[in-house]
Formats: sequence, structure tokens, C-alpha cells
Amino acid sequence: MTNIIEQYGKYVMPTYGRQPVVFVRGNGCFLYDEEGNAYLDFVAGLSINNLGHCHPAVVKAAQLQMAELINTCNLYYTKPGGELADLLSNLSLGGKVFFSNSGAEANECAIKLARKYGHDIGGEDKHRIITLENGFHGRTMAALSATAQPEKQAPFKPLLPGFMYVPPNDINALKAVVDSSVCAIILEVIQGEGGIHPLDEDYLVAVRKLADEHHALLIFDEVQTGLGRTGKLFAWEHSGVKPDVMTLAKSLGGALPIGATVAAPEYSDVLGPGMHGSTFGGGPVPCAAAIAVINELTAPDFLTSVQIKGGYLRSLLEKMKADGLVSEVRGMGLMLAVDLPEPVAADIVAEALKNKIILNNTSENTIRFLPPLVVEEGMIEAVVEFLQTALSA
Ligand SMILES: Cc1ncc(COP(=O)(O)O)c(C=O)c1O
Repeated sequence: MTNIIEQYGKYVMPTYGRQPVVFVRGNGCFLYDEEGNAYLDFVAGLSINNLGHCHPAVVKAAQLQMAELINTCNLYYTKPGGELADLLSNLSLGGKVFFSNSGAEANECAIKLARKYGHDIGGEDKHRIITLENGFHGRTMAALSATAQPEKQAPFKPLLPGFMYVPPNDINALKAVVDSSVCAIILEVIQGEGGIHPLDEDYLVAVRKLADEHHALLIFDEVQTGLGRTGKLFAWEHSGVKPDVMTLAKSLGGALPIGATVAAPEYSDVLGPGMHGSTFGGGPVPCAAAIAVINELTAPDFLTSVQIKGGYLRSLLEKMKADGLVSEVRGMGLMLAVDLPEPVAADIVAEALKNKIILNNTSENTIRFLPPLVVEEGMIEAVVEFLQTALSA
């Protein structure tokens, strides 16, 4: 039989540090390897499987749509596209949606919308975009220009001009750079790839005020935080600070590729015909899957259950902190992380895999937890027990 890992080594560009396992099946909170071993998944494909693997409602919606009409491109209307845009709009900012295929593309659209808005109200001078250090917005050139992580940007310079970076949770640093030439401020309410660092509520309130004073768009990248991950449909709902534009992707399509850029009504027609596009974006199959995802997330008590389970995992992690096994616990809902006193996070992730538990580390010191939102108490306990043993060793 072909050795899959060797095949990747030979034929797939080495852009990922993959774990040494080949998965052939997924069901709920478990993935299965070629020998049929079950792995408890606390990564959920980096939060693309918020409803767990192969959720029956998602599978059914996608299969039915697949047999009916796969895609038409965007020269025509399809029913799932209209229905999903209606749902997303009415659950969030009340304006219009642009569909793409990924988080980076959703941000690309938001960046172009911001630049066009700047042109409309202030000419080409109003083009600067401010983002936060340690943020992550994707790997395409525009999204990378917004991603203020020097080691990720360095090999690809020069980047897009006009981006400025300030430290998170420091309103004075932001005040020092915002002026009439700024067309947008882009941020994650909780920095995900950066290691689960939430922004303070009073900071978000102050950023909103500053953006309004300078007629700059406030754009929230909810690609990782969105769609129930933090115990609310969107992370901004915790503070009540509403963005002008919000980007979504990851779990929106129940692990099928779809991105969405949602605008408030005032900014819904900034991008006109021919100004942006995507041949595949908003295809009927991922849209049908996304409608099923949203119906599950908005079912009575679903988000409350995320808050309860997130609170439970957090309480167990806090106990580990009290016991000196971890040095810090951060996050919200089922988007949590612990810092370790020693730089052994990658070793713990490798050890977890041997124990049939899937974990992820964002750095040598930080382990991140993004379990499917349908995780059960017993599964949370199993992962915490593993960590207690591994970190006590
Ligand atoms: C906050 C955030 N924005 C954007 C992206 C990029 O999404 P994609 O990998 O789908 O392009 C990610 C991916 O991790 C993310 O976490």
C-alpha cells in the first residue's frame, strides 16, 4: 500500500508541520486512523468542525444540494446563497454579505472594502489600515500585510503599503497613529493563532469611539472566534461593541470551504459591480451546509451549553494552575489556552497523539483548546487527566 506520509513528503509542498498520522474518517468528537484507532479531537480542524466531524445535518444538506446543483458561478442566483446571506445578515450587522472560500479571502474583501470606502470619502490619502501586533488574518499577501507577526511577514517583503501595527489593549498606542488618513482598524476580539489573547472590553469600547471619530471602519475578524466558539454566535456580542464589517470562515460551512464578509447597511454597497469577485464563492453546496450549521447553532440552549462546557473546562484548567502545572489560563467559551511554565508544548502535543488525543500548541509554551462545541463532560475530563499526568511527569 502507498505510504501516504512519504507521498506527502515527495509531492506536497512542505508548508505545514503535520502530525504523523493519516485520518480516514471522522464522527462527532473523534477522528479515526487507517487501523481504526479513535482519537479524541480537541482541535476540530482549527475550529472548522464546530459541530463535530460529519454532523448528520451538515452531511444531509450538502449531499442533497450536491445531487441537485453543485455550482453555477456568480453570474446567476441560487437559493442557498440568498438564504444564507439573509440568515447571516439578520443574525449580525443587518447589511449585505460577500461570499468567498476562506478566512484570508474574507479578509481580502474587507480590506478592499475599506480601501474603497476610504477613496469614496477621503480620496486616495485615506488608505491606511491599522491592525494589532500578534494578530493573524491569513496568508494571502493582503491578509499577511494585516498579520503583524514579523517572522511570518519577513520572507515575503515588500508587503502591501499602508499598514500600521500597534500593540493590543493599548488605547494610547492606537490614538497616537489614528488620524484622517486611516480607513480601517482590523482586529480579532480574541487573538487565536497568536495564543488566545482576548481584548479588554473597555479597549473595544474605546476603539469603537476612535474609529467613529476618524470615520474609519471597525472590522472584526471573527474567522476563529465566530459561530459559537466563545459561547455567543459572534465574539463581539460579549462586549456589545458592534463592528462595521465582520469576517467569517472556518466552521461556517461545517468544514466545507466558505468565507463571508458581512457589512453593516451603511457599507453594504461600497463595493459595486466588477469591483470584487470569486468564481466559487457562495456556491450552493457550502451555502446549504452553512444554513444547516447556523440552524444547529441557533437551536434553543445550544450556545448556553457551550458556555457551560467552556466554564467546566476552564475550571479544571484553573485547578491545574492552582496546582502549579500551568502558569496561565486564557480565553472564552470553548476557545481556551494554557501557558506552560516550561517550553514543552510541542512535546505534550506529540505525547497526546500517542495517547489518542489531538491537541494543538500555538507556541513552545502555549497549548490551545478548540474542541468541537458538541464535546461532552467526560471528554473534557479525559483531556485534563492526560494533561495532569503528562505535566506532572
Ligand atoms: C482569525 C483568523 N483570520 C483569518 C484566518 C485565515 O483563514 P484561512 O486559513 O481560511 O484563510 C485564520 C486562520 O487560522 C484566523 O484564525
